[in-house]
Order: sequence, then C-alpha cells, then structure tokens
Amino acid sequence: MSDSTSAVSTSIVSEIFKYANHVVLFFLSLPLAQRLSIIILAPFVYNLSYQFLYSLRKDRPPLVFYWIPWVGSAVSYGTKPYEFFGDCQKKYGDIFSFVLLGRVMTVYLGPKGHEFIFNAKLADVSAEAAYTHLTTPVFGKGVIYDVPNSRLMDQKRFVKGALSSDAFRLYVPLFVEEMEKYLKNSKNFKFNENDSGKVDVMVTQPEMTIFTASRTLLGKELRDKLDTDFAYLFTDLDRGFTPLNFVWPNIPLENTRRRDNAQRVISNTYLSLIRERRANNDIQDRDLIDSLMKNSTYKDGTKMTDQEIANLLIGVLMGGQHTSAATSAWALLHLAERPDVQQELYEEQMRVLDNGKKELTFDLLEQMPLLNQMLKEVLRLHHPLHSLFRKVMRNIQVPNTSYVVPKGYYVLVSPGYTHLQEEYFPQPTTFNLHRWDNDSASSYANGEQVDYGFGAISKGVSSPYLPFGGGRHRCIGEHYAYAQLGTIMSVFIRNFKWKFPDPSQTVPKSDFTSMVTLPTGPAHIVWEKRHPGQKL
Ligand code: HEM
Ligand SMILES: *[C@@H]1O[C@H](CO)[C@@H](O)[C@H](O)[C@H]1NC(C)=O
Ligand SMILES: *[C@@H]1O[C@H](CO)[C@@H](O)[C@H](O)[C@H]1NC(C)=O
Ligand SMILES: *[C@@H]1O[C@H](CO)[C@@H](O)[C@H](O)[C@H]1NC(C)=O
Ligand SMILES: *[C@@H]1O[C@H](CO)[C@@H](O)[C@H](O)[C@H]1NC(C)=O
Repeated sequence: MSDSTSAVSTSIVSEIFKYANHVVLFFLSLPLAQRLSIIILAPFVYNLSYQFLYSLRKDRPPLVFYWIPWVGSAVSYGTKPYEFFGDCQKKYGDIFSFVLLGRVMTVYLGPKGHEFIFNAKLADVSAEAAYTHLTTPVFGKGVIYDVPNSRLMDQKRFVKGALSSDAFRLYVPLFVEEMEKYLKNSKNFKFNENDSGKVDVMVTQPEMTIFTASRTLLGKELRDKLDTDFAYLFTDLDRGFTPLNFVWPNIPLENTRRRDNAQRVISNTYLSLIRERRANNDIQDRDLIDSLMKNSTYKDGTKMTDQEIANLLIGVLMGGQHTSAATSAWALLHLAERPDVQQELYEEQMRVLDNGKKELTFDLLEQMPLLNQMLKEVLRLHHPLHSLFRKVMRNIQVPNTSYVVPKGYYVLVSPGYTHLQEEYFPQPTTFNLHRWDNDSASSYANGEQVDYGFGAISKGVSSPYLPFGGGRHRCIGEHYAYAQLGTIMSVFIRNFKWKFPDPSQTVPKSDFTSMVTLPTGPAHIVWEKRHPGQKL
C-alpha cells in the first residue's frame, strides 16, 4: 500500500469514528424510553431490511417471511410441519427457505427434492454435521455421526451382518416368545387372567419394541436385564434425545446429566458382555453383538474398539426403537377404527397359519401380503421422521433453477409430506391397504442399483414413497422392522379384537414435536380376546 492511499484510508477511518461518536452521543441524549425502544426495535428493523434485500436476490430460493429474528418460523414449522410446508408450497413453490432458530433451512418438496437431497454429492452436504449434536451424546463416541462418512458406511455394513434372512428366521420365534411373555406378564394385559381390558398404546408399544429388539439384537442376558432397574436408564437416555438437543446439546439441565450417565452405564454394560464373550471365546451367530465381534474391521484395516461396538449397539437400537414403536402404535389405532380390516387380516392369518396349527415363522410372514400392505400404508400415513436434514458444505446449484443454496445452510427433505399428496396417492388421508394390492413389497426394488459400502440399494430416489429414505444414509433396518412389526401385529390380530373406548373416537392427531411423529396421547384402545378363556 502506498503512503498516499494509507493516508486516505486513515482519514476515512477517523471520519467513520467521528460519525459513530456522533451517533452514540445522539443516542445517549435521547430519553430512556426512546433509548429502550430503539434497542428493542433495532433487531426487528434489521431483520425486515435483511428480508427485503434477500427477496431481491434471484440466486436464492424465496425466504419464508418471519417477524421474530433468530426464531424465524420455528413455531409454525415445529408444531405443524406439513401444514407449514403446504402453505409455503402454495406461496413459493416446491423450493423455499425458512429460518429456524438461527439456521436457514432450504426445503425442496416432492420427488425431485428427494433426488436433490438424498442423492446429493458427499462433498456437497453432510448428515453428520446436521445430526451429531443430537446423536453423539446419546450413542457415544466413534460411531454413526461421530465418524467420517466412509466409517459410517462400514459400520452399516457390519450391522447388516445381523439383519439377514437367516438371522430373521431365528428372530421371528423369539419375537413371538417375547410377545407372549409380555401379554401374560404385563399389568396391561394379564392375558391368562383377563378376557378384556384397556391399554394406552403409547405405553405398550415402546415396551414391546424394546423387549423384542433387545432379545434378538442384544441377546438373552441383556434382554433379561430389562426386567430390572436397568430399564430406567433407557428412559433417561430417551429424555436426552429430543429436538431441543439439536440446538443445545449440552444444556445444563438434570436431563442432560442423566442422559450422560445413562449412556455411560448402558455402554459399559454392553462392553462387559462383549469382554465376557471374548474371554470365553463364545462368539456365535446369535445376535448383533456376535456379528459385530466377528465383523468390525474397517476397509482400511482399522478395527473398531469394543467400546465403539458398545456405542454402535446403542445407536442401532435407538434407530429402531422410536420408529418401530410409533409405527405399531399407529397401526393399532388405525385398526381400532376398522373392525372390517381386522377381520380381513385375521382371515389371512388363519389361511397362512393353517387355522392356527402352524407356528409363525419368517417365511410365513412373507406370505402375508395384507399384513405387509397394512404396515406399508401406516408408514405412508405416518412417516416417523417428518424432516430429514443435511448441512450444506459447498454452494450447491439447484438443477433447472437459478437458485444456489450456499454453504452453511441446511437442506431439508420430507418424504412424509410427499406421502400425503393427492397427486401421488389418491385420497391421501384415507387408510386403505388395498392401494398397495399390486405392490406389497415394503419398498421399491426395481431399477438401477448402487452400493455405497453397505450393500446394493436403488440408485434413483425419486419415488414418492420413501419411508426408509434413500441414498448413502438409507435405512438398513427396513426388513428387520417389517419382521418385528409383522410379528407384533400378527400376535395382536390372532388373539384380540380391539376398538376405541368411545365409539365416536377417531385416530388421534399427530404430535410432531418429539423425535418421531407420535399419536397425541393418551391413546387408549379397548381389547377383547377373540377366544374368551384362551390361555397362552
Ligand atoms: C419403521 C421403522 C423405521 C423407519 C421408518 C426408519 C426410517 C429411516 C430413515 C428415513 C432413515 C434415513 C435417515 C436420513 O436420511 O437422514 C433411516 C436410517 C437408518 N436407520 Fe432406520 N428406520 C426404521 C427402523 C430402523 C431399524 C429397526 C434400525 C436398526 C435395526 C434402523 C437403523 C437405521 C440406520 C443404521 C440408519 C442409517 C443412518 C445413516 O446412514 O445416516 N432403522 N431410517
Ligand atoms: C461381514 O459382513 C458383510 C455384510 O453382511 C459380509 O458380506 C461379510 O462376509 C462379513 N464378513 C465376515 C468375516 O463375516
Ligand atoms: C384383570 O382382571 C382383574 C380381576 O380379574 C382386574 O383386577 C384387573 O384390573 C384386570 N387387569 C386388566 C389389565 O384389565
Ligand atoms: C431439468 O430439466 C430437464 C429438461 O426439462 C429434465 O430432463 C431434467 O429431468 C430436469 N432435472 C431435474 C433434476 O429436475
Ligand atoms: C392391480 O392390477 C389389476 C390388474 O392389472 C388392476 O385391475 C387393478 O386395478 C390394480 N389394483 C390397484 C389397486 O392398482
């Protein structure tokens, strides 16, 4: 820089200081009330000017108008996301951005949005940057979103070792055993003593899910621990798994302390069992622990530590717990309204199980299209995850538009919204399992395939029906979930008829504010044995 330019810039700086000084003195000369109102109004004025200038940019998706700085559209999005998306779609089209607690979220609705976000390039978007604050304190270090994507792809491959058809052949009888034990022992049913009763599906379904999942994926020892005080730790862990933690992962509350304690104790308990099996050279093909003990060496030769294996167990169980529990709860509620569908499903059970003479098996479950279509329809109406996110790591051009989504924004995809659009699913809010009569597979399976490191999956993700997501972060629990949910529902359908306590009642509304979309509780059903006096 030459002397003259630096002299000029020095004088500009001193002019700015003088000017700022005048502004400050003027501000201080104002009466207190005016000073306060300026302090309060300034962010709003700034916010409105920012939104006005933003609206002039042709290279940005339209920004949803908001009044309150930082908070943005958090209330309307957070309480009724699908209504919010629908309103925005009418005003702005399929692509728009909104402010959510200091972040800018760019939404792309519909099948093209599925493709844009689920199949975005690895270097362009990051799931770990979007989710790690929420998940890492709950799962623990070194797994899922606390590792680079290539490690996650390997971990998903390791887990798939315990999610094969051969494994499901072992699991289905164990699911049945757990269900029967639950019906007999739970104070909610007391099957052998009572012919009827009333239960809250928001209590029973999470319990059935954790018992069946633990028995199969973690083995008998850890399942049995759930009948002890150990079970409370899962409640503590769950309470630390809320959308609040996205924003304040370590908010100094009692819940956070209990979450961290639960993570430590649970993962150390899993670790002890892993060490015990190693010490006894007792590694078989029973459960997920066995398969991770056999198969957890990354492609580059690094081995997962036993602590990381323990943390991965927490992550996988957590991934399946809320999604499956919500799905069977919704299934029970929809069927409560439809005795005709219960009857249809019952007839299918009797046909395939030879009037109850055959025990349920994985292979027989696969011969029950109506049961699978019922689950498929429930997942259409109630996608457990209304929004999926990625953080934008590099500016990305939105194909066929003038929009660029800049680094630092988040992109949001919502297959659950697409599931409810008339153009893809006629009479979208009607529960109709026959809409899948020619298509009972749980997800689309045709077309070109791709392998990101955890097995071949469909390359295209522009299907309007994506309950399990798509691309490199696609769910690996789909077939496990169908086996587990199919068994739970088969046991219900064969043993009970059920309805709402009050005949005028209908399926509860969705509560979108927790981690998965749940029925607004309490969600009671009244059950009655199909065969009064029957014992298990
Ligand atoms: C009805 C049940 C389930 C539904 C609807 C469901 C849905 C999903 C969805 C939508 C994703 C993609 C997330 C994203 O793109 O951000 C996903 C990923 C995943 N799910 Fe599931 N899931 C279910 C059950 C399960 C079960 C039972 C397990 C484990 C046994 C599981 C394990 C996983 C894992 C490991 C991922 C990968 C996460 C990633 O790669 O980023 N899920 N699931
Ligand atoms: C590890 O798991 C993958 C995926 O299930 C499988 O292809 C591979 O054979 C397994 N390796 C071992 C050593 O079991
Ligand atoms: C089962 O029946 C007993 C009496 O036979 C009753 O006290 C109890 O509340 C019933 N339990 C349920 C879950 O309905
Ligand atoms: C972009 O437009 C072209 C021509 O209309 C079309 O073939 C292509 O599928 C569009 N791409 C996307 C991602 O929408
Ligand atoms: C299923 O396929 C048959 C024969 O192609 C057709 O008549 C029927 O309408 C289809 N059902 C549905 C629900 O699409």
